[in-house]
Amino acid sequence: MTALGEKVEKAAQHIRKRCELTPAVGVILGTGLNNLAEQIDAAARISYDDIPHFPRTTVDTHSGELVIGTLGGKTVAALAGRFHYYEGYSLQEVTFPVRVAKALGIDALIVSNAAGGLNPEFQAGDLMVITDHINFMGDNPLIGPNDDRLGPRFPDMSEPYTREYIDLAESKALELGQKLRRGVYLGCPGPCLETRAEYRFMRDMGADAVGMSTVPEVIVAVHAGLKVLGFSAITDECFPDALEPADIDKIIATANAIEPQLARLAHACLVEMRVG
Ligand code: HPA
Repeated sequence: MTALGEKVEKAAQHIRKRCELTPAVGVILGTGLNNLAEQIDAAARISYDDIPHFPRTTVDTHSGELVIGTLGGKTVAALAGRFHYYEGYSLQEVTFPVRVAKALGIDALIVSNAAGGLNPEFQAGDLMVITDHINFMGDNPLIGPNDDRLGPRFPDMSEPYTREYIDLAESKALELGQKLRRGVYLGCPGPCLETRAEYRFMRDMGADAVGMSTVPEVIVAVHAGLKVLGFSAITDECFPDALEPADIDKIIATANAIEPQLARLAHACLVEMRVG
């Protein structure tokens, strides 16, 4: 087994000792979207700091926790707090929690993020289901020796976001009377926001939303054979010809305002999601 495979197994063993539940669905909660974790009927809450080989949090981010419990009738492993590339973690570190959740037994992953809207029809406050992504990080979490037990050397990326789950999200949004956008998420490294010229370029590339996360975790999820459902909370409008300076507090406040809608939709999807 590779060093990565061994570390994943050590971390999973530690978690199994703390909680006997086998999670079916992993949930990664993005910036401003962490409240969903409070709705979980939790069997265990484990600080990242206690899990062997989990990346150590940097001073400017508080340590996250893994919450294992029940939500929408499914056993979930929710990662409240994620690691970002711009904090200085390698993409292998950023995606380590996905590997561990897979080792614990998940078959599906729900990811969420706060993102800037590039599609001129989008408005701050919208929720988007991710249909596809563009890896603009300049890096890839799968670079390096491949552990065939974790996944194939050259994973297919023709459908990283499971079509069945996109359809489910759209039909549940309709039932709930929620407006749900659909679109392509572009992941860039950050930490600076983008220039007008970059936004114009990204829109020309076919992206509908831009953010600093998610793509690495989804690449690893696909490598690991997981089904994926992704949501972006559109927190600001990145229109090159009408760009206003980014206000990070406002971005976080908008993500918080979208969170209840995301929580309702994610819950409804969990109830009917087919896993395994
Ligand atoms: N870029 C622009 N706007 C954003 C981002 C980003 O990465 N994340 C949230 N809003």
